Amino acid sequence: MEFLNTVEIDARLHPASSAQSKGRDGNISANAREPRTLTITAASSNPKMFTLPWEKPLSVWPQELLANLPRGISRHIVRFVHVGDEIYAMKEITRNVAEREYELLRRLQKLDLPTVTPIAVVTGRHDKSGEPLESILVTRHLKFSLPYRALFARNLRPDTAQRLIDALAVLMVRLHLAGFYWGDVSLSNVLFLRDADEFTAFLVDAETGDLHAVLTDGQREYDMDLARTNIIGELMDLSSGKLLPGDVDEVEVGNRLAERYHSLWSTLTDTENFKPDEMWKIERRVNKLNKLGFDVDELEMKTTEDGNRILVRPRVVDAGYASRKLLRLTGLDVQENQARRLLNDLDAYRASTWQDDEDLEIVATDWMRVVFEPTVRMIPPEYRSQIEPAQFFHEILEHRWFLAEKAGHDIPMREAVKSYIDTVLPKYKLDTEDVEQLNAEADSGVVDDDSAFNANDDNYGSDAVDNDPDAAVWASR
Ligand SMILES: Nc1ncnc2c1ncn2[C@@H]1O[C@H](COP(=O)(O)OP(=O)(O)OP(=O)(O)O)[C@@H](O)[C@H]1O
Ligand SMILES: [Mg+2]
Repeated sequence: MEFLNTVEIDARLHPASSAQSKGRDGNISANAREPRTLTITAASSNPKMFTLPWEKPLSVWPQELLANLPRGISRHIVRFVHVGDEIYAMKEITRNVAEREYELLRRLQKLDLPTVTPIAVVTGRHDKSGEPLESILVTRHLKFSLPYRALFARNLRPDTAQRLIDALAVLMVRLHLAGFYWGDVSLSNVLFLRDADEFTAFLVDAETGDLHAVLTDGQREYDMDLARTNIIGELMDLSSGKLLPGDVDEVEVGNRLAERYHSLWSTLTDTENFKPDEMWKIERRVNKLNKLGFDVDELEMKTTEDGNRILVRPRVVDAGYASRKLLRLTGLDVQENQARRLLNDLDAYRASTWQDDEDLEIVATDWMRVVFEPTVRMIPPEYRSQIEPAQFFHEILEHRWFLAEKAGHDIPMREAVKSYIDTVLPKYKLDTEDVEQLNAEADSGVVDDDSAFNANDDNYGSDAVDNDPDAAVWASR
């Protein structure tokens, strides 16, 4: 395992380290291999990590450390924790699983795939009386992301389920192209980011996955089948909780995932054949792939045996065609559809300011200063953690268009922003109560492995609540 930087805390600071790692029944358990001292393994060090209460089960960490953001359903205890200026997601799991998932996430990140970013694995935890606690996998909280249940908790466009499925199909194709077999695809294991009128999906739970050089068709189909089954189940569950619009057919949405996936897979990987004088068709294919957001690294070309046809197969690299272009021009790092939208606006700005002959880089600097930045600076502070600037900008453009159509003339940007903030933005807001309700639901799926560690442990029994100043979170569950 490649760890750039391992930080170990001295055992003497932690009386827990003197304890033998014995199981509850007195046998040396699997935890015998747990390090005796608290060990934080991370690619880069964040001194604030040392100040966290690792000696307490995650379920009783003090409220003031926690960030109240929506979580999806999980079997393990997951909490969002403020660490300096950042918010980390902490998941309490066994050491082997934590280390494996950390390593896999690191490899997926190196391949530039859309997953949460691994930060650290914390092992060798013990409570005050020396009893071992489970390990913790730390990932960076994916900013502006929402679990699917949070999306369905608010007023929605009727096609939200379809749009989530389309995003998931793209994610699965991207992961499969890179050789990642997921093994547990479900809406709960994905996070969604708004991306202009669509969504982008990120992998959040890699626990069951495996990275191969290439996946066989059988492996891909198996992953897809499981995804379909899980998603139909999750949608039925939403439906019984009256969260799904009545006309959504769960099985149809599940089938849509398979259709979308297969059609995108074949667009990206099929071999086409052309006559030697039809080479322009290759350009058309590459343009189509770029439009879908995928870059082509190289084209594999072979002639047929009779020499009359040319077989062409693109080697697709990952998605992100427009977002890489925008990043290059403006330094903005946004989702693909947002990037496309912003690039279109940049083009429109270039034409309307008679700068067609000017370098795009120079126009882009102007556009940032004159158009983009003044607009996103108008996001009211209370919404800054809830909507991405690029998404805000996209929605302002939509809203402005809608106002102009109604009024029959152009609407100044400032006016459009003001109207959007007054009438549309409040629908975005997830208030504290919504989040608390979502998280209570998310926790109802927790199979508390830690209770196996502490099965007979009175430290966390009801007596302890009265004495423990931090027990509020735990006691309220
Ligand atoms: N880095 C992160 N950013 C944002 N949300 C996160 C992050 N990590 C975890 N979450 C939230 O916590 C939830 C549970 O995480 P995860 O799926 O990894 O737990 P799990 O217990 O392994 O799940 P399962 O029951 O599928 O095994 C996710 O659905 C997601 O909402
Ligand atoms: Mg999960």
